[in-house]
Amino acid sequence: MEIFLVPAVTSSLLLLLPMTMISAMAFDNAFTTRNSPALFNLAWMTKMHWDGGINHIEVQPLTPLTAQNKIAETIENVLSKLRTDTVYPKLFKYAFGNTDINSQRMLKALAQFMGSIISSNSKYDKVQRGEASFTSTEQNGYAFFKAKCDACHKEPLFTDNSFRNSRLAANPLLNDLGRMGISNDKNDSLKFKVPSLRNIMLTFPYSHDGKFYSLSAVIDHYRTGIITSQPILDRLLVNRIAITNTEKNDLINFLNTLTDTTLTKATRFSK
Ligand code: HEC
Repeated sequence: MEIFLVPAVTSSLLLLLPMTMISAMAFDNAFTTRNSPALFNLAWMTKMHWDGGINHIEVQPLTPLTAQNKIAETIENVLSKLRTDTVYPKLFKYAFGNTDINSQRMLKALAQFMGSIISSNSKYDKVQRGEASFTSTEQNGYAFFKAKCDACHKEPLFTDNSFRNSRLAANPLLNDLGRMGISNDKNDSLKFKVPSLRNIMLTFPYSHDGKFYSLSAVIDHYRTGIITSQPILDRLLVNRIAITNTEKNDLINFLNTLTDTTLTKATRFSK
């Protein structure tokens, strides 16, 4: 199978999981330096990547396709594989009117595909539409979430698309300064994009460097792990977040309602 992205999604769950796996291992056993985010609801993302380095869905595939520690291809080579494929010329004709395959059309097709990956049918969504109800622990978790988490992980996307410093000291091996690497503004040091929490149960490991292996560990980070002496820590986190064990349990039960099996089992994303 060629490396083209669409058919590479071979099973429904793969849509979410391997994005994470790819972060560990890429072309020629190379490692990437960041945890790959799962792909959905991209049409509403004002900026992409953990540092917002990409601001348009159409140019998003260029970096992973060509980066040496990702797919390590050239665009020309990808195009020539598509042109000699038995199926793609027909598909391009169907979509664009003739069989010409060029980079603009390829990026448009990928953008259309990525934009069609929508997550909006989790239990949380059904509750919002009046089609289901939360259990009492989920309801408690939702109330806690709205009080303590929603300022950044804003409903309904569960991100406000902003960049925030919420973390421990920088990993000295990676020396990843986040948003500052793009903006060159020292006030952006260690700021990373607030990730959506939709489908969070399926997308471990967590955080931009993948250092948390469970939701429990992430929640412990918020309640005890944050280094509060950091001068540029987000003001919402300067006192950490007080979370009891019961609240933690409720919170995890609520986050579990954000899993959207309509998306993860969608046959149109399977092969
Ligand atoms: C000040 C803004 C802010 C608040 C408040 C906040 N978060 Fe976050 N959250 C972030 C940012 C930024 C990241 C990404 C951090 C990184 O990778 O360095 C993140 C990451 C996460 C992740 C990992 C997601 C992933 O895909 O890797 C989870 C889970 C999470 N937050 C849950 C919560 C919960 C639960 C609360 C409330 C108790 C909360 N957050 C409160 C900003 C915030």
